Formats: sequence, structure tokens, C-alpha cells
Amino acid sequence: MTVLEVIQRSTDYLARKGVESARLQAELLLAHVLGRPRLQLYLEFERGLTGTELDRLRELVRRRAAREPLQYLLGTVNFCGLELAVTPAVLIPRPETECLAERAWTFLAGLGGGDAPPTALDFGTGSGCLAIALAVHCPGAQIVATDVSAAALEVARGNAARHGVEGRIQFRLGEGFAGLPLEARFDLIVANPPYIPSAEIARLQPEVRDHEPRVALDGGPDGLAVFRRLAAEGRAWLKPGGRLMTELGDGQAQSAAEVFDTAGWAGVTVENDWTNRPRMLIAERPAP
Ligand SMILES: C[S@@+](CC[C@H](N)C(=O)[O-])C[C@H]1O[C@@H](n2cnc3c(N)ncnc32)[C@H](O)[C@@H]1O
Repeated sequence: MTVLEVIQRSTDYLARKGVESARLQAELLLAHVLGRPRLQLYLEFERGLTGTELDRLRELVRRRAAREPLQYLLGTVNFCGLELAVTPAVLIPRPETECLAERAWTFLAGLGGGDAPPTALDFGTGSGCLAIALAVHCPGAQIVATDVSAAALEVARGNAARHGVEGRIQFRLGEGFAGLPLEARFDLIVANPPYIPSAEIARLQPEVRDHEPRVALDGGPDGLAVFRRLAAEGRAWLKPGGRLMTELGDGQAQSAAEVFDTAGWAGVTVENDWTNRPRMLIAERPAP
């Protein structure tokens, strides 16, 4: 069977199974199997596939048709220009989170003066995407990254090593702030916490609902549980003048801002992401 025939058959099959952008997905899976950039396939339409290549592709197409996310099948994702490994132990980093990353490293890199290096806590690091982007863009910064999932931290550690920043990120296992050394204080807390209301998870796409870690999604009955936690406990971990920056779910801007206002945070603002949706909340440590 040729490259073109395989693409056509895989596309038809994925489309029948309700997979969106079926042709693109088929091409990406085939490019992965053949170890080539996707566009190279267009120069090789008449090339025949070996039996082994066909077997590998069939298995991946079968899994994609069962709605396993493409990124878990490919094993990597690009975040802020950094290639990161992803497994089902971690949330797949999303493009909207890149906006939070950029906002966070701009703040951290702008902290001038002082002898001490800038410090940041990545709360709920998952794949390590935020911590690693901060470390790469702020070469002097020291980062602590926490997660309640040991399996996620293993992926994050591997990603940090892949980008040569493992010496500046401490990974800490723990629920909430529990894994942190008591004396730790940060210039910045950055978080992309679970924020989907529990009852909405059943209505998500199967790729998310059935394959991404529930602990990375479930924000409690109204989706705001971890925001309340960050608002109540986060200030104790910030230096004077420190900031907390968190991603928000669609439609959560007002309620999340109320949570931080009520908890006494200063300068609570909501910022838009690159698609102009209010998806980031920034707050300053309140005076003690
Ligand atoms: C939405 S994912 C974000 C992962 C990554 N920061 C990103 O942006 O792709 C949330 C992460 O927070 C972790 N998490 C959830 N609840 C937590 C808690 N109570 N304490 C610490 N980590 C938690 C999850 O294991 C998950 O890795």
C-alpha cells in the first residue's frame, strides 16, 4: 500500500469514528511512524510502506479512533517553542497556557536589583511546562514545581533535563503547598490548576474526559476549589510585592476575581489571552 492510499484509508476510518481533522491526524500519525516531517509525505505519495510500518500505523490509528489524544500517541507536544514529553500521567499543555507562561516570565525577568535570584513556584506543574518555560526564559531564576502526582513529576523532571534546566528547578511532591520547605518564599506563584466543574467533566470530549488525568481537570463542584485554596494559602508563600498568576476557565473571570478580592488580595486583575478571552488572573500579595 502506498503513502497516499494509507492516508486516504486512515482518514476515512478516523472520520467515521468522529475524529476531527481526520486527514491531518492521519498524516501526523504516518509522519511519526516514518520519522519524517508531515509535509515530506507529499513528496512521497507513491512510496510503498513496509509491513512493519503498516502494522505500527494501524495500531496508532486504532488507538486514535478510540479517542486517545494525538499528543499521547506522538509522545510530545510543543509548548512555547520547547518540545516536551507527554504521557497519560500529565495534562497535555494547551496553547492558552503559553500566554500565562509569557506573562509570568516577563514579570520574573523584570525583577531587577537585589542580590537574590528571582524565585517562582509552579503550583501543579504537570508536564513541567510552566516551570521549564520560566527557567529557560529567566536564566537566573530558581524555580520550585509541585504536584500531587508522583507520575507527573517524573515526566516533568525528564522534561527539565531535556532542556538543561533541571539544576534550577526543584520538584516537590505534595498536596497543595504541603511539599514545600517551610521557609520558602517566592516572587511569583504561577498556576494552571484544575478548574472544570466536576459535573461538566462527563460532557467533555472523550479525548479529555477518558484519557487526561482527572486530578488535572476536576476543580470541584463549581470549578473554583483550587482558586479558593490559592487565595487562602498562597499569600503566605509570597515575598512582599510578590504576584500570583493563574489561568482561568472560560466564564470564570468574575467569580475567580471575587474569590481573590474577598480573600483580601491587592490589585486583582483579569487579562485576556491571545484570542481575547479573559483567561488569566493576576493578584498581588496583600499587606500582612
Ligand atoms: C490543569 S493541570 C496543569 C498542568 C500544567 N501546569 C499545565 O499547565 O499543563 C493541573 C495540575 O495540578 C495538579 N494538582 C491538582 N490538584 C492538586 C493539589 N491539590 N495539589 C498539588 N497539585 C495538584 C495535577 O496533578 C495537575 O498536574
